[in-house]
Amino acid sequence: MNLFDVYPLQDITPVKGEGCYMWDENGIKYLDLYGGHAVISIGHSHPYYIKSLTDQLNKIGFYSNSVQNPLQEKLAERLGQISGYPDYQLFLCNSGAEANENGLKLASFVTGRKKVISFKKAFHGRTSGAVAATDNPKIVSPFNAGHEIIFVAMNDEQAFNAVHDNTVAAVIIEGIQGVGGIQLPRDSFLQFLEKKCKANGSLLILDEIQSGYGRTGKFFAHQHAGIQPSIITTAKGMGNGFPIGGVLIHPDFKPWSGMLGTTFGGNYLACTAGLAVIEVMEREKLMENAVTIGSYWLTEIGKLSAVKEVRGKGLMIGFDLSDDKKEVRTNLLFNHRIFTGEAKPNTIRLLPSLALTKEEADLFITALKQELA
Ligand SMILES: Cc1ncc(COP(=O)(O)O)c(C=O)c1O
Repeated sequence: MNLFDVYPLQDITPVKGEGCYMWDENGIKYLDLYGGHAVISIGHSHPYYIKSLTDQLNKIGFYSNSVQNPLQEKLAERLGQISGYPDYQLFLCNSGAEANENGLKLASFVTGRKKVISFKKAFHGRTSGAVAATDNPKIVSPFNAGHEIIFVAMNDEQAFNAVHDNTVAAVIIEGIQGVGGIQLPRDSFLQFLEKKCKANGSLLILDEIQSGYGRTGKFFAHQHAGIQPSIITTAKGMGNGFPIGGVLIHPDFKPWSGMLGTTFGGNYLACTAGLAVIEVMEREKLMENAVTIGSYWLTEIGKLSAVKEVRGKGLMIGFDLSDDKKEVRTNLLFNHRIFTGEAKPNTIRLLPSLALTKEEADLFITALKQELA
């Protein structure tokens, strides 16, 4: 059987990871500033993470959501504490798209409405509602296109007001747009959305799948704006590579038996990974580190004249290069052995582990200067 060939692949086969580094099958060492797409939050193969998962696997690896699983409650409690949402409720699932799908479904259940407002350049995943709320017609099939989604330019209050009526169930927005090229909603825009949704009975969903879990220096990126959404979705950095997603749900919304569900969501290994990530983040002060190294990078990258614009917060950074610098990302990989991410048309995205050191950050600045010279 062949693989269903949907991914454009780099010709590299990683076989080992440690901290912010990876090694390929030929023993070549790479600095990983992409984190497998913002997933590696505490670093590759963190010893505490490995021990926690190994110990759990030696006890029990899986059972379904039909029995008691105290690890889920423990994770909900720890996540509530570290995120500043102790009163919210947690629904556990397996991926970012699934978290958004459940968030959208919940908003529709709660409001009895079906229309959704999303934003230009948004990416929310590949499942039915999540991909319909994604601003990329190429990946939306006719089957998905049946959802009622309206796309509005981000940070445009007038355009939003023109479509936000009392038939809207949910407004979904990324804490910082990732796939869209590290585009930041203004704090005042998030505050405006919060106010408008409250007044209108629609639910504000903050997609923190890429921007959350400490990446921007606060637990969730929207917390820089001081708002409290009705629903928050999370995944990626939550499990440091173990598939896990979550929906944080306002205490006012009451569940009923069978309202949401999943076979694998909240399994023992996923919860163990989630707990290990939170413990390491706290112990190693990774959110503080994200601020320190992220601010340093923003300053240093901002000094480079070949960089058209640099955007971001903490360790979620994007910078634009001109069209004649299209080869820089590939050269960083093959000349300097540094992995970075990209966004179209010519943005380089940096989404490393939150444990990145100043020395590692400097390796990148040196390599980038060489490539831009
Ligand atoms: C903001 C955002 N939402 C949702 C998703 C989808 O997550 P997953 O690929 O885990 O389904 C992504 C993935 O890149 C994302 O960046």
